[in-house]
Formats: sequence, structure tokens, C-alpha cells
Amino acid sequence: MDQTAKNRQSNIVLALDRPFEKPENRRNLLSKAEHILEAVHPYICAVKFNRHLVLPLGAFNGVQELVKKAHDMGLMTIMDCKVNDIGSTNKIIAEYYYAAGFDAITANPFVGWEEGLEPVFDVAHRLQRGVILLVYMSHKGANEGYGQTVYDNETGEKTFQYVSFAKKALKWGADGAVVGATYPEKIKEIHGTLKEPVPIYSPGIGAQGGKIAAALKAGARYLIVGRAITRADKPAEAAKNIRDTARRI
Ligand code: XMP
Repeated sequence: MDQTAKNRQSNIVLALDRPFEKPENRRNLLSKAEHILEAVHPYICAVKFNRHLVLPLGAFNGVQELVKKAHDMGLMTIMDCKVNDIGSTNKIIAEYYYAAGFDAITANPFVGWEEGLEPVFDVAHRLQRGVILLVYMSHKGANEGYGQTVYDNETGEKTFQYVSFAKKALKWGADGAVVGATYPEKIKEIHGTLKEPVPIYSPGIGAQGGKIAAALKAGARYLIVGRAITRADKPAEAAKNIRDTARRI
């Protein structure tokens, strides 16, 4: 990721999401997604996929075509699947997404290590792919889960859930941590724990109200941007503006 971002002079990850369309319009959905990717690829370093495309198109049909296209353009690809089940199921989810070509997947540390995310990290290491952990989400209710007060298992002391997750991201060797751009103060605090080894990926710019400067100054390394680009009248122009603003900061 770092090398790609450096080569492309961009730290923008495009969230290639589309609104709901009737399943019979799948071909149309695929060509719209392709169209956006072709328009904005000079201004981004990676593409993040979500269920918006995987559910209607399938991981091994349209999405794999898009992943290949992104790779041919020199971009990294992330599947935002938020792995969140028991280990044996998580392992198979990871294997399928990596087989579809994804360079990294997102996972939820709430499920823990043993019989939780350990098998996912094992598969990722074997295949030399990435695992990015959710540490503090971008939506309003994030505080109810990621912000709750918990007792640290090891120290027995009171802490916040996201502080405990940030420590786990370091301990488990995660390749990234997701922290919402809507909470720059949390980015700053979490970056203080993670420092350079675990880069922060920050979604929530634009449509969710997050600001580019605040997120970057607080320590985010990559900005994940969806609707502010995909729903703009001119996606390429929107992506270029966001990239240029980020570069200035
Ligand atoms: P927008 O349109 O809001 O899209 O720019 C953001 C994209 O990122 C996803 N998202 C998140 N993914 N943790 C994640 O792993 C988060 O806190 C988070 N917030 C937003 C969102 O689903 C969309 O694909």
C-alpha cells in the first residue's frame, strides 16, 4: 500500500459503492462501476469493495473482473467484508475473497483471537495478503460498541473498547486499522498507540461529514472515500480535488 500510494502520489482509497438496483440490472451495475473506476483511477491508490457490488455481481463474476481491472491499473484492492463469525467460517470467507484476488480484507476484532480471527491471520500470512481491523467506526452509534468502557483482560483495569482493539491490532500484527474520519480525536488517540507499524484507514469523508484536513492531521494515512466521488456529477474531478487537498496537507 505504502509503495503504491507513493508511486501514485495519492492516499485515496475509492469505496466503489453503488445504490441498490434490481438484480436483473446487474450488467448495467457492472458497467457503471467500471465507468467510475476508469474515470478516477489516476487519483487513487486502492479500491475498496463492499456488499454493494459483491451481493448483486458475485465475488467470482463481475467483482473479480473489477479486481483484475484495478490490479491492471496498478491499484490495490480491499474487500470490506468485516469478518465477524467463528474461526472456521471466517477462514473460508477469507479464502474466498483472497481467491477472488483481494489484497486485503477487513475484520472485526469483537470476535477475538482464538477460534475467531487467528485462522484469518494464518490464511493471510500464508498467502501474503492483508487484514485490516475495525477499531472505531465512522457512524453515530459507534460509541455504543467501540466506545464502551470495558475491563482489560490482561491488566484488569478499566479502558475503552477501541483502546483495547488498538492494542490488539498491534499485538496481532494487523496491516491496518479502520478509524472513522468523523472522530479525529479518536484517530489521534489511536494513532498514538499504533504509530507507524499499523496505518490508519479512515472512512467517513464527505457524505458522513468527516473532514480531510482533520483526519490527516490527526494521523490517518489513507482516506476511504465513497459517495463524495461516486455520486458526484463529475467523479474524476471530485476524486482529483480530494486527492489534491490531501496532498497539500
Ligand atoms: P462513503 O460513501 O460514506 O463510504 O464515503 C464509505 C465506505 O466505507 C464503509 N465504511 C466503513 N467501513 N469501518 C469500515 O470498515 C467504518 O467505520 C466504515 N465507515 C464506512 C462504508 O460501508 C462504505 O463502503
